[in-house]
Amino acid sequence: MSMLPTAAHQPTIAVLPGDGIGVEVTEVGVRVVRAVAARSDWSFHARSGLVGGAAIDAAGLALPQETLDLAAGSDAVFFGAVGGPKWDNPSAPVRPEQGILGLRKALDLYANLRPVKLSPALLSQSVLKEEVVRGTDMVVVRELTGGLYFGKPSRRWRGPTGWRAVDTLAYSEHEIERVLRVSFELARGRRKKVTSVDKANVLTTGRFWREIATRVGAEYPDVQLEHVLVDSAAMYLIRRPATFDVMVTENMFGDILTDEASVLAGSMGMLPSASLGSGTNACGGVQGLYEPIHGTAMYTPEVVGTGRANPIAAILSAALMLRYSLGRPDDAAAIEAAVDRVLAAGYGTPDIAGPGTEVVTTDRMGDLIIEAL
Ligand code: IPM
Ligand code: MG
Repeated sequence: MSMLPTAAHQPTIAVLPGDGIGVEVTEVGVRVVRAVAARSDWSFHARSGLVGGAAIDAAGLALPQETLDLAAGSDAVFFGAVGGPKWDNPSAPVRPEQGILGLRKALDLYANLRPVKLSPALLSQSVLKEEVVRGTDMVVVRELTGGLYFGKPSRRWRGPTGWRAVDTLAYSEHEIERVLRVSFELARGRRKKVTSVDKANVLTTGRFWREIATRVGAEYPDVQLEHVLVDSAAMYLIRRPATFDVMVTENMFGDILTDEASVLAGSMGMLPSASLGSGTNACGGVQGLYEPIHGTAMYTPEVVGTGRANPIAAILSAALMLRYSLGRPDDAAAIEAAVDRVLAAGYGTPDIAGPGTEVVTTDRMGDLIIEAL
């Protein structure tokens, strides 16, 4: 964003593959980073740690202290995905998702950038009409450490009339303001439009959000600000996706809207993310965590180990890591261009295959992207 890192220091990357297909796509992502680094003559240390179900099995916790220390002490975290049927018991006190939620919170990674861009090669296969999706190129900024995911109270109890449960949507002015600033700064380097999404017609926090967005927006007169209610935003995303540039919203709204938005990019297997905090690292970049948005839920357990997972979301997440945390914007752009070339040449994993696509495995897709670098 405003401050881009410099590249003098040899970075340490914490590699946290997690579970299921997380392991497969992360391996390919690291391979691509190695290839691009070798080509540009630099190197990095990769140190792996356990998280999610794998950590529950080994240490009884989804986010062991050792993993947290590794993540906190690294220049960037490259994360796979957590969860799976083995740990699905909803009433278990330890759950794999605590791994990723705990990392986001502990590292204060409050701004989650989810770029949604349709590769021209996938245009004709979209489930939406070509004229609707053409030109889609937006970034959803999801607030990541507050809102409905972290508000207290969050609990279940037995009352006089039976069991009850509560979650809380709470925000401080500071939390809303900082994620809006990230969004306006980002928009300045793009098409200069911010769409702030809230539920101001119903929720107190929504009106609060809108008021702060308006105030912060006044400091960015060069950026156009529009307010859209979250339900309308869900509709406009598939009616006029190309009109959006930067869209910023509450944690859970952003979770839901980005799964929807992934359809615009052809598949959830295409969508990377960068979770950024306010701390800088030894590369002079932002400390961040980089992960595909798909998690383990996109793929049924039968897919694990079959080579059918799409590694592109992980590879594009690695590109974001090079850009925001490691001071390697040229290498980031090289990876993104290589992905587009491989797609344009007609290769795809099953989730993005159309008529005429040459279907390849997870590993082969990685090899093709490395060759295209
Ligand atoms: C995401 C995922 C996570 C979330 C899960 C795995 C906890 O859906 O990153 O979008 O809900 O944030
Ligand atoms: Mg999600």
